[in-house]
Amino acid sequence: MHDVTISAINSFEQIGDARSKMLIQKLVKSIHDYVDEVELTQSEWEMAIDFLTRTGQLCHEQRQEYILLSDVLGVSMLVDEINHSKNVEQTPSTVFGPFFIANMPIRHYADSIVEENVNNEIPLLVKGKILNQQGEAIVGAKIEVWQTAENGMYSGQDPDQLLTNLRGAFISQVQGEYAFKSILPVSYQIPSDGTVGELLNYSKRHFWRPAHIHFMITAEGHQPLVTHLFIQDDEYLNGDAVFGVKDRLIVGFQQRNASAEDQAKFAVDANYNLIDYDFVLSEGE
Ligand code: BEZ
Ligand code: FE
Repeated sequence: MHDVTISAINSFEQIGDARSKMLIQKLVKSIHDYVDEVELTQSEWEMAIDFLTRTGQLCHEQRQEYILLSDVLGVSMLVDEINHSKNVEQTPSTVFGPFFIANMPIRHYADSIVEENVNNEIPLLVKGKILNQQGEAIVGAKIEVWQTAENGMYSGQDPDQLLTNLRGAFISQVQGEYAFKSILPVSYQIPSDGTVGELLNYSKRHFWRPAHIHFMITAEGHQPLVTHLFIQDDEYLNGDAVFGVKDRLIVGFQQRNASAEDQAKFAVDANYNLIDYDFVLSEGE
């Protein structure tokens, strides 16, 4: 090891909290090892500093280019895997993404999240239950959902959409049921106008994510679940730009002839497309 590496690691010896001390010292060691191994040149160091500086300059309340960088490097999903994959009974989690907006309208069971005129989009009913690991209903869970419009953009990102379009929160019912009406999401490209865009273009990587609906489910006494449902047969399921796809989150959708009972219960026409998916939460805080 170089003298400067040893000195730099030792300079953090006084940190009182053992975990913080370990995190910082290992980080310093990893960076030094990398620089040493690749024999980083002065101009490569300058390029790296410039890239990180410009990444930081792009960040503000509505934009987090560093999270996007973490996503396209696979780091976000590695953190997810380390922290959330041990319990195989619960529904798998996946990347949060930058497009969540808090405090969206609380909607009623089977309401639609579509607030704009739709053209030829495929209508969708998403329903299922929120359960615990014993298969029992979780009543009163909050289910926040968000998805893209047919132009591949989220409200908040697209100035032409109402902020509440294709978003909403639902509360699970007495048997844990949730249901909402929507349109089929489309595959879309992650933001490409920043430093992450530069990196992906330089690397000849694409920007596409397979079509999905985002869910954040919170319930008292249970661990929050941040996940998506991906739509079967999407051409980007095997090439997600942020590595977020997990097999158990891929759903088919069925064209149904709704029974008279279902037509009344969900206020849908006889012909609608159905995603039926139960989410399983694990106990904890
Ligand atoms: C998303 O699914 O909204 C997303 C996730 C990671 C990066 C960009 C977008
Ligand atoms: Fe998304």
